Amino acid sequence: MREVGKIWMNGKLVPFKDAKVHILTHALHYSTAVFEGIRCYNTPRGSAIFRLPEHVDRLFRSAKLYSMKMQFTKEQITDAIVKTVRASTLKECYIRPIAYYGYGTMGLTPTPNRVDVSIACWEWKVGESKAGKITGARCKTSSWLRIDSRAQPMQAKAASNYANAALARVEALKNGYDESIMLNYHGKVTEGSAENIFIVKNGQIFTPPLASGILEGITRDSVIQIIRADGGEVIERDLDRDDLYSADEIFMTGTAAEVKSVSEVDDVIIDNGRMGQTTKRLQHSFMDAATGRDERFAHWLTHL
Ligand SMILES: Cc1ncc(COP(=O)(O)O)c(C=O)c1O
Repeated sequence: MREVGKIWMNGKLVPFKDAKVHILTHALHYSTAVFEGIRCYNTPRGSAIFRLPEHVDRLFRSAKLYSMKMQFTKEQITDAIVKTVRASTLKECYIRPIAYYGYGTMGLTPTPNRVDVSIACWEWKVGESKAGKITGARCKTSSWLRIDSRAQPMQAKAASNYANAALARVEALKNGYDESIMLNYHGKVTEGSAENIFIVKNGQIFTPPLASGILEGITRDSVIQIIRADGGEVIERDLDRDDLYSADEIFMTGTAAEVKSVSEVDDVIIDNGRMGQTTKRLQHSFMDAATGRDERFAHWLTHL
């Protein structure tokens, strides 16, 4: 991690290296935190944050699902995100706002503690999400099932969801794959450990519905809107594991991943193992939208 710029903590910008919390911070012990992952891209009109209002809305929705009382308004958090990115002097970065139960009382009940909010940003190197960009990612269906809304609100981007996701990611890496694909308790495809998933079959594009237990990805929504604007359609329906194996193309979407291609699932080669035309086209269209090169989606950008 290259420490550049400042980190916003409860209303103050502090030097990167001084942005510390107490070891008895509630969230550190009990995962009582919700967060966001946002990107700022360099565009022909300068740096711009991609779909900022949607990310701020999701942060507040996540907090609501966990009954967390935010001490800041959406407008204050939006301003703080812009301020933090400006203070970083980075032209492009990844932004991480987090709301968490802080230091105060210990024990499972979080509510006596204040909900602290921090915003950090840092450079995101292409290497971090390289698999799937140039060649396809090799994926493994995880032996860990995706937790579902009977156990935790899966529409929340909550830290607690990521223990499950990290188990799947580590299992995939240990077995020599790039990424995992998680099934739900009904054996249906949900998502990757930090990406939504789409398949292309016989010219049609499918993606699992929100009710399968996925995060409502903002990149997923962007890609769906791009496909529709180009005259295409996306069918949301449950997908089985064999839908993956027999797909003509598979791609994943996420703020970090952007649009990445999947070339293998459990050693089954998808089509000819090369990136498909639909994936390639969407990769370009998404990047055009995110970097201000497609006027149709100019409203997705918050210029600094
Ligand atoms: C579990 C999970 N699913 C999907 C996504 C994709 O969401 P988004 O496109 O909003 O980044 C993410 C990334 O944040 C994620 O962690």
